[in-house]
Amino acid sequence: MDKKKLAAEHAVASIEEGMVLGLGTGSTVYWMIQKLGELVKEGLKIKGVPTSQETEALAMKLGIPLLQLADVHEIDLTIDGADEVSANLELIKGGGGALFREKMIASISRRLLIVVDDSKVVTTLGKFPLPVEVVPFGWELTSRKLRAFGCAPVLRITDNGPFITDNGNYILDCHFDTIHNPEELNKHLNLTIGVVENGLFVNMADTIIVGSNEGVYTKKK
Ligand code: A5P
Repeated sequence: MDKKKLAAEHAVASIEEGMVLGLGTGSTVYWMIQKLGELVKEGLKIKGVPTSQETEALAMKLGIPLLQLADVHEIDLTIDGADEVSANLELIKGGGGALFREKMIASISRRLLIVVDDSKVVTTLGKFPLPVEVVPFGWELTSRKLRAFGCAPVLRITDNGPFITDNGNYILDCHFDTIHNPEELNKHLNLTIGVVENGLFVNMADTIIVGSNEGVYTKKK
């Protein structure tokens, strides 16, 4: 079985009747949302809070009831993917560009459960370029400022020009190679003018479900 699918479907066991659920974004969590759609059809009562327009559209197609973020004060459980997971359960997210909404939803979640295949598990973060969401105005200046942190920022481009996030911003993919202190970097990046949010998730995830050729294993805080 596909390793992403394996991890994502395993995560469904953590969902309980009546929960408010944060619905992550990406090709791994896609499988969890599909399964959740089946359970909802069978009568499970939950309410979802999507982390992107893509996930919102998928959830609506599957008949998963959704809440407006304005009406939500706390989320019981968020299930999301990641691009890298360190030994300390720090994450790089935002490969799909949804990092801002993902982080906002994670910040009001009592639990953040991450589903990945084993290719995402690393000792130290940084091989995956860190996505940083920036305001389009003056992005070149913001990019120069980010260089001072020891990375090479690259504007994310699509066939139609710069990639635009759900919030109308750009993404700079910052090539670090190794991130020695994710907690410090997270703080400093977000103090840089022009930066909206960055893809480092520190002290947020409590459980990682990893799909591998040998089956599923779980890492906990
Ligand atoms: C979306 O912006 C990301 O944070 C995703 O959660 C992350 O890129 C994982 O994506 P996949 O599950 O598609 O690998």
